[in-house]
Amino acid sequence: MNSAVTAKQYENICVLTVSNPPVNAVDAVIRAGLIAAVREAEADPATEAVVIMGAGRNFIAGADLAEFDGEIPAPAYAPTLGAIEGCGKPVICVIHGITLGAGVEIALAAHYRVAVEGAALGFPEITLGIVPGAGGTQRLPRVVGPEQALALLLGGAPVKPARALEIGLVDKVAAGDPLDAGLGYARELIAAGAGPLPTRDRSCTPGSLGDELVAAALKANARALRGRTAQFGMIEALRAGVDLPFDEGLAAEKGLSDTSLRSQESRALRHMFFAERNSAKVPGIDSSVQPLKVQKVAVVGAGTMGRGIAMAFGDAGCEVRLVDIDPAGLERGEAAIRANYEGSAARGRITHEQAAEAIGRITYALNLDGAADVDLVVEAVFEDMALKKDVLAWISRAVRPEAIIASNTSSLSVTELAAVTAHPDKVIGLHFFSPAHIMKLLEIVRGGATSQQTLLTGLEIARRIRKIPVVSGDGFGFIGNRMMLDGAFREGEQMMLEGAGVDQIDNALEAFGFAMGQSRVNDLAGVDIGALVRKQLALRESRPDPYCIVSDTLVPMGRIGQKAGKGFYNYTANPRSGELDGEVDAVIERLAAERGITRRVFTDAEIVERFVLQLINVGADILKEGIAYRAADIDVVWVHGFGFPRHLGGPMFHADTLGLAHVAERVTALYAQHGHYWKPSELLLELAKSGSSFAEYDRAAARGE
Ligand SMILES: NC(=O)c1ccc[n+]([C@@H]2O[C@H](COP(=O)([O-])OP(=O)(O)OC[C@H]3O[C@@H](n4cnc5c(N)ncnc54)[C@H](O)[C@@H]3O)[C@@H](O)[C@H]2O)c1
Repeated sequence: MNSAVTAKQYENICVLTVSNPPVNAVDAVIRAGLIAAVREAEADPATEAVVIMGAGRNFIAGADLAEFDGEIPAPAYAPTLGAIEGCGKPVICVIHGITLGAGVEIALAAHYRVAVEGAALGFPEITLGIVPGAGGTQRLPRVVGPEQALALLLGGAPVKPARALEIGLVDKVAAGDPLDAGLGYARELIAAGAGPLPTRDRSCTPGSLGDELVAAALKANARALRGRTAQFGMIEALRAGVDLPFDEGLAAEKGLSDTSLRSQESRALRHMFFAERNSAKVPGIDSSVQPLKVQKVAVVGAGTMGRGIAMAFGDAGCEVRLVDIDPAGLERGEAAIRANYEGSAARGRITHEQAAEAIGRITYALNLDGAADVDLVVEAVFEDMALKKDVLAWISRAVRPEAIIASNTSSLSVTELAAVTAHPDKVIGLHFFSPAHIMKLLEIVRGGATSQQTLLTGLEIARRIRKIPVVSGDGFGFIGNRMMLDGAFREGEQMMLEGAGVDQIDNALEAFGFAMGQSRVNDLAGVDIGALVRKQLALRESRPDPYCIVSDTLVPMGRIGQKAGKGFYNYTANPRSGELDGEVDAVIERLAAERGITRRVFTDAEIVERFVLQLINVGADILKEGIAYRAADIDVVWVHGFGFPRHLGGPMFHADTLGLAHVAERVTALYAQHGHYWKPSELLLELAKSGSSFAEYDRAAARGE
């Protein structure tokens, strides 16, 4: 036994507690500890039953993913779970808190399972592109049947104890303390004379995982599994679980699990998993700096963004005052927020009580009078430098000196905005994405004067409102919008001029895996928004022509997107998906002719290549300039803010997959052909030349090199 698994005797019951803070992830030490502890308990004549539980808030949140990069160190999972399952005395597992993946697999190897109210249990492996490798696909169908097993494994979402009881995943649900739950159930079982009940001895009806069941499960998860392959390995492993004797099935699962771990898809998904966890780590912050507490929040500007931001804070239990100078705008904001919560309640996503509470947390005002005690003000007025400066100066006068002032600007300089306030060190950019109460990404912009404490408070705010933060330097468009405007979307419009169809580009990008093609995104967000930014910042004057010239020609024609019924597409006949419009083709043809561009036919592969290479090249510049700390942060921004396919790991991870030598060669070739916008990034060339990668660049930076 070791300190990761401790044993304590409660009369005739031995309780094993697994401890590996913060979430009790399973590693080799835990596995060795479990084997030793179970054997010892089995050999002890004083013990009649064994209880396994977790130290702290949960049982086991999963396997230690860091072990998956190489050969999993001994002892492996199979002998560990075999020792539990083969124990000659009843083994009861207490499922409490977050219990996922390997945690549930261990629970399934125990003979009895009790879940404590408030627990969440499930198999998130599909979201990591992994086929479970600790017998999950073999024991689960024996316990809950093939149909439920398929739903749990392909869906990946955790279930609550009541549902787990309903499908037979647990035998009992208890309230209160995990130890009491385990001891109580163990005593019951001892009193009833219940013996060991190995899951492997339970049977499944061979052939019961029929094609119809599989087709239905694939259909139910089609959206999440678009472009993915791990589900097929999962189904094969599950079939082996249903059709084959236990040991044969287990061997089949091991092969499929190992293959899945080596797949590019799983590498990409695991990269994203770590990227999301690391993005909140900011290098170079003094350990003595502590974030400020944020409870009272004011949001200025009750438009699209202000409403979403108010709801994001309200949902997190903050007191929010939503302010707008325009009474009608404020009223519209209030009505929209009400409708949103009431709609969620009507759809059963939250209770009516929760909706009323959330609505009650947000108050409305035309000014900041009496807001001297707020901890944070988020400004979300129109994207106009002069207006924002006025508003920030006004906010700065209304709040106490300690308050944090944040701007939701998507393109303006936070440093310049901060300069009009009394305490520029308290100013930060909090760049939300629309809809702000739903989108997970939050770009946190460090202005030139932003203090470490303000930055840390920004990260704390992200944690509080459950966003994934990425810290960005204060450069044009920060990380995401710069790569979009200067890189990919500009290139998309260039390809339109050269002959690629508006819908061909969208369809090619969507087939690659983007959530939505660029013209559909533009139409949804408003073509005028980007046009305004370009105008404000005089981008057209500072960038070689053609620069987003199609968008900027459509806007004065009133083609500003879905809200006007027409943009890149026409929405008259089909308000949701829109249809192609000859007027747009004519505009593009004219713009191309004016520039002497000869139009030609594009392949979809060419479109995707140019779009993605632009993301990579601009991304590399952003990294080199220190606007982003890590390549992985850029991946988080593009996966969470712009619908880049998660299973490809984000643009920078994808660049590593393509190989930087290849990427550099292609960018250089396109530079020779098209000039300026294709000037290869210095960092890209450097890394390619030395045979390195963006991942290696991140590792070196983490080592402080
Ligand atoms: N829409 C998006 O997708 C998006 C995404 C990220 C960031 N942003 C940024 O968020 C900000 C707001 O954008 P939006 O789309 O919500 O705009 P919007 O036009 O929907 O709303 C702006 C609101 O600000 C109010 N306002 C104007 N002047 C004011 C003042 N002096 N005091 C108080 N309120 C005032 C207006 O009455 C209006 O209700 C902009 O900086 C924008 O760049 C927008």
